[in-house]
Amino acid sequence: MRALLPFLFFALPAYADPMLDLGRALFFDASLSVTGAQSCASCHDPANGFTAPLEAGSPFPQGAVAGRFGARKPPSLAYGALAPVLHHVTEEGETLILGGAFSDGRATGRAGGDPAAEQALAPLLNPDEMALPDPATLAARACASQASLIAAVDPALCPATGQEAEVLTLIGQSLARFEGSAEVAAFASRFDAGDLTGQERAGLKLFEDKAKCSACHVLSRGPKGERALFTDFSYDNLGVPKNRDNPYYSNPANGSGRDWRDTGLAETLAADPVYAALADGNTGRFKVPTLRNLWTGQPRAYMHNGWFRTLEGVVHFYNTRDVLPACADDWASEAEALAQGCWPAPEVAEGVNKDELGNLKLSQAEEAELVAFLKTLTDR
Ligand code: HEC
Ligand code: HEC
Repeated sequence: MRALLPFLFFALPAYADPMLDLGRALFFDASLSVTGAQSCASCHDPANGFTAPLEAGSPFPQGAVAGRFGARKPPSLAYGALAPVLHHVTEEGETLILGGAFSDGRATGRAGGDPAAEQALAPLLNPDEMALPDPATLAARACASQASLIAAVDPALCPATGQEAEVLTLIGQSLARFEGSAEVAAFASRFDAGDLTGQERAGLKLFEDKAKCSACHVLSRGPKGERALFTDFSYDNLGVPKNRDNPYYSNPANGSGRDWRDTGLAETLAADPVYAALADGNTGRFKVPTLRNLWTGQPRAYMHNGWFRTLEGVVHFYNTRDVLPACADDWASEAEALAQGCWPAPEVAEGVNKDELGNLKLSQAEEAELVAFLKTLTDR
């Protein structure tokens, strides 16, 4: 018996973490969508870098209700959940917004101190996503499907009658706990292991100097001392073209049709009493995403509207956006633009960043080195 004890010690988890167990279960719980058919994992699939698999070639996943779509591509949620509360810093006389969850920062985290916990409740109640009708339904469904795991955290919470707010807080906090855990933010890529080939190492060097990528996708430690998150949680307008496949152009809720533009951070700031005056200067800016888990060998899309389908295309855009001619068709796809040697007009022309990108003077071989490096950032 004694001989077995050390084995048991290593086979069991080091300590019980009921919040993590609950968050994991909720993440995969399809009963939390109106039809019972969609969970967080449907659009943030662990096997696909925590983003959605392309559905019939489209980067915009359908919500639980047939025919309902959002206006953006789901980002990889891993590491993004480590964002600090939305705040500002002043650098050289310019006020920069940092942090918050979603690519426009609208889950600021200011109320409860945790953007990820605030964010996590949004998809459950969003009619284009899991589409539960109201918080009371969400609390009741969570109590029905996860009674024992909720009781392990707080035995007095379910049934939820009269305690909906407390149950919702727990749902948000436990999902955030899971998203920030080593199961999701694993820091287990070949880059972390220092296991790079010569070509990949050359790509890392370009990433840090000539190609200027690390100016925004920073390699220094994260807000809580984490290893490189590949984002400083700032916002920028790269001049990404419009995606003609965005279902929002034909959504009845969109009054502007094909003239609609996704203004990103500006919309969040315009609705904020503290930052409203900064909205105009931030039109078309989106949060710098992590670059971890970009490559899983499956078809993927990149940027807030999924216009890019290849990492080669992304890197070629950073390198030549301001060098190649404008495409005749503003609505050209990535494949068409690459074939014609042009780039379509940006979705939002104001405030496109011309300081750090657009004409990097990289050779074809250097572009390939950067792509090879990006592919080393996938967790094993
Ligand atoms: C129907 C697809 C869909 C489902 C289901 C879904 N999401 Fe998302 N998720 C998205 C899209 C699209 C975005 C980008 C929205 C935006 O930025 O405005 C997003 C963004 C996020 C982000 C922001 C990441 C960042 O970088 O700021 C997090 C975190 C997240 N989702 C977590 C969840 C959780 C937790 C659930 C389940 C409770 C969930 N999602 C369910 C589509 C989905
Ligand atoms: C000025 C800041 C900045 C610099 C410099 C920068 N990026 Fe980005 N990057 C961003 C922002 C902001 C986004 C998201 C834009 C959007 O969604 O419209 C982004 C998105 C990406 C994406 C898509 C990620 C996803 O999940 O969709 C990739 C890949 C990428 N960057 C790679 C690079 C590489 C490689 C370099 C260097 C050649 C670089 N970036 C330089 C700010 C920057």
